[in-house]
Amino acid sequence: MIVLKSDDEIKRMAESCRIVAEVLEGIKKNIAPGVATEELDEFAESFILSKGARPAFKGYRGYPASVCTSVNEQVVHGIPSSTKLRNGDIISLDIGVCYKGFYGDAAVTVPVGSVDKQAGKLLLVTEKALKIGLEKSVAGNRLSDVSFAIQEYVESEGFSVVRNFVGHGIGRELHEEPQVPNFGKPGEGPRLLPGMTLAIEPMVNAGDWEVVILNDGWTAVTKDKSLSAHFEHTVAITKNGLNILTKL
Ligand code: MF3
Ligand code: CO
Repeated sequence: MIVLKSDDEIKRMAESCRIVAEVLEGIKKNIAPGVATEELDEFAESFILSKGARPAFKGYRGYPASVCTSVNEQVVHGIPSSTKLRNGDIISLDIGVCYKGFYGDAAVTVPVGSVDKQAGKLLLVTEKALKIGLEKSVAGNRLSDVSFAIQEYVESEGFSVVRNFVGHGIGRELHEEPQVPNFGKPGEGPRLLPGMTLAIEPMVNAGDWEVVILNDGWTAVTKDKSLSAHFEHTVAITKNGLNILTKL
């Protein structure tokens, strides 16, 4: 069941989402060659706690950290560790926060130092795929209009969309209905309505779409070892258009 949110609930989600956006902003400033991903996790966790909020991923199905740090061919759910970032890497940072009973979830992928042309294009295309998905996230459209638009754009740029992970409803839970795939035919699924709150999150591979899970039980990597990027916003569909809650 899709739970529609009142304007007041959306306002409360916006507070949680603002913390998410601030953490991402802060983490981005800490990205540099030589920095260990666990340092990013420490920064994020202490920032979130200092706001009186809770890191939503920590303990979720046993996930051990506050942030997912997915480097290069890692798609999502990379676990922060003592491994240091190197010049030319790309890193996806995914953060979830719960504040006063409401969730926010967002992700960005950023370059470490200077990256090659292919990596640079992957970041631009994935960020634009999210933007295109958001443009379709208006009341009256069908859910799969979002999915289709993302897939069509990504494939037109010669990249592929991940199938094994999808976006989702969000609000009083981290994952609510409906699922929001980044692929599919247009004109299917539920009609988008004011009060729907969604986490839209294209995951884009430079090569093929298949992923495998590493032995840690979490880290998803591309099967062909190609680079992968991930951008995500939590949004609310309102009668006045889209409210991007995790944008500062
Ligand atoms: N943004 C991801 C999601 O929507 C991150 C979840 S990580 C987990 O599922 F640790 F919470 F699983
Ligand atoms: Co999400």
